[in-house]
Amino acid sequence: VKRIALLSGGGDCPGLNAVIRTITKTAISKYGWEVIGYVYGYRGLYNNNYIELTEEKVENIYKEGGTILFSSNKDNLFDYLVDDGKGGKVKKDVSDVGVQNLKDAGVDVLVVLGGDGTLTSARDFSRKGVQVIGVPKTMDNDLSSTDLTYGFISAMSVGTDFIDRLQTTAKSHHRVICCELMGRDAGWISLYAGLAGNAGVCLIPEIPFTIENIAKHVAKRDEQGMPYTVIAVAEGAKYADGTKVIGKIVEDSPDPVRYSGLAAKVADDLEKVIPNHEVRSVNPGHIIRGGDITPYDRILSIRFGVKACELIDEGLFGNVVTLHGETMDYTSLEEVIGDAKFGKQKRVDPNGELIRAAKAIGV
Ligand code: F6P
Repeated sequence: VKRIALLSGGGDCPGLNAVIRTITKTAISKYGWEVIGYVYGYRGLYNNNYIELTEEKVENIYKEGGTILFSSNKDNLFDYLVDDGKGGKVKKDVSDVGVQNLKDAGVDVLVVLGGDGTLTSARDFSRKGVQVIGVPKTMDNDLSSTDLTYGFISAMSVGTDFIDRLQTTAKSHHRVICCELMGRDAGWISLYAGLAGNAGVCLIPEIPFTIENIAKHVAKRDEQGMPYTVIAVAEGAKYADGTKVIGKIVEDSPDPVRYSGLAAKVADDLEKVIPNHEVRSVNPGHIIRGGDITPYDRILSIRFGVKACELIDEGLFGNVVTLHGETMDYTSLEEVIGDAKFGKQKRVDPNGELIRAAKAIGV
């Protein structure tokens, strides 16, 4: 191996920069490889748009959120929007252009930092004979093949801080405050931040909720002398009756209301059934993905990055770096993604230990 290339795809996640830094430093100083980074993910690979990465360039990004390589969210070279020559656009498989660009740039190994969508393309490049290593990226922590990913602890810590701060104001006004946290398909962030921040109720996608149940919970807290409740709401939590808040509009409503998120809709519904409380909602949105990363995620990013270099050195291509228990490990892209369009997801078990623990303390 002489030269490796990195790219980051999908939404940014705390720790990406720290992984880029680790791989760059390890590749150059331990193995003597050159490192380039394609910018804007697969789009950069298609447009042959890359930068040289040096130790000096990455030295100070050890704790900085985001990605210095930028990211494009939905670019997939196997299904890429190109000009149709008639002034319009058409989807086409342009992956051969990517493969050729890698050859022309003298790249021996492509290291892909991404979530399920980005790793699905990585698997497809691997099937085309490209030497690929995947480094998983999901602040939702919902990738099935690894116990933990960098970014989750940072995002969850910011979410916890929000809930902590809402406690004092909720208590002062005897209010109910719904705080929306990311988590489209899995409730890990809301459950962890909710439990850590002493939320009275956690709503997660895995356990559909009713407004009546939440109201009962609030009433019980009132009786117990706690006339305030902070509710952690995962953005992907679901009404048991199927009410859907899609694109921030309540679907199928004759008089659609635009909400700033699910928590706003829950707050609105709740206020109608608990007139003894004022209800408020907040949606920190992308704030939980931003800023500096926690010390733990810095260490995890170092471990994921170094393991990626070890896999390259050992020629173990077509694999994704994973963490199993205390051990850095690897899992094949085929296993991580399977035949599904997007990788297999890890969800909160509604009957699992974490939910039992939450219920045991009255959440
Ligand atoms: O997949 C990670 C995630 O943080 C989800 O929890 C959230 O739904 C989504 O990204 C938001 O993505 P975007 O940055 O495209 O708005």
